[in-house]
Amino acid sequence: MNYRAIFSLLFFSVYCFSYPPEFYLKNRHPINSHRYSTFHQALQLLTERNAKVVVETGTSRFGSNGFIGDGGSTIIFGDWACHNSALLYTVDISSSNMDQSKNASTPYSNNIRYIVSDSISFLKSFPEKIDFLYLDSYDYEVGNPHPSQNHHLKEIQAAYPNLHDNSVVMIDDCSLPKGGKGFLVIPYLIERGWKIIANSYQVILVKETSQ
Ligand SMILES: C[S@@+](CC[C@H](N)C(=O)[O-])C[C@H]1O[C@@H](n2cnc3c(N)ncnc32)[C@H](O)[C@@H]1O
Repeated sequence: MNYRAIFSLLFFSVYCFSYPPEFYLKNRHPINSHRYSTFHQALQLLTERNAKVVVETGTSRFGSNGFIGDGGSTIIFGDWACHNSALLYTVDISSSNMDQSKNASTPYSNNIRYIVSDSISFLKSFPEKIDFLYLDSYDYEVGNPHPSQNHHLKEIQAAYPNLHDNSVVMIDDCSLPKGGKGFLVIPYLIERGWKIIANSYQVILVKETSQ
């Protein structure tokens, strides 16, 4: 092997190495957890589609204590963004929840923008195209599902102009009585030519025309 080939190999392994999805889930989600397979698929899609702009509504308010209960998405997607030259925008209405999330995602903070705001106002004025959108804000209550379902509908309506043909949308807390957070979001997207590619506790949708 000549010097040029050795240099290329070293450059590739140092700068271009992309870890498999399992790397970002290890010691965070057990393989049999209700979010493992969908987080795994989402991470795979992020890598395959070379996502650069990732937006999540609802930050990891319990830090690394929230993997099982809430998901720990800011830490997982922040870690991925850090290894893939992407930016994660995490928006939350609560500044104390954002502080917790910041503390837990410090190693990846160069690749995370923390925004304290109502998610709908934030999405309405977001200026960039969104490659991956994760909806997980307003808490869902089975006894009072409409406030959360309406809020998530307004989020997708606000974000929709910034989605493109290769965007991915994932929604948390879906397979719950009375439809969960995706109850209104999923039909909204299907009516516009999107299809479900993963349907469990989290639901993933892509445009019908994309791979
Ligand atoms: C379920 S937690 C998010 C969990 C996080 N995605 C994770 O995986 O760890 C929901 C968050 O949504 C936030 N939230 C509630 N209403 C909101 C709103 N109108 N705009 C933005 N965030 C909101 C709450 O403050 C809370 O931190």
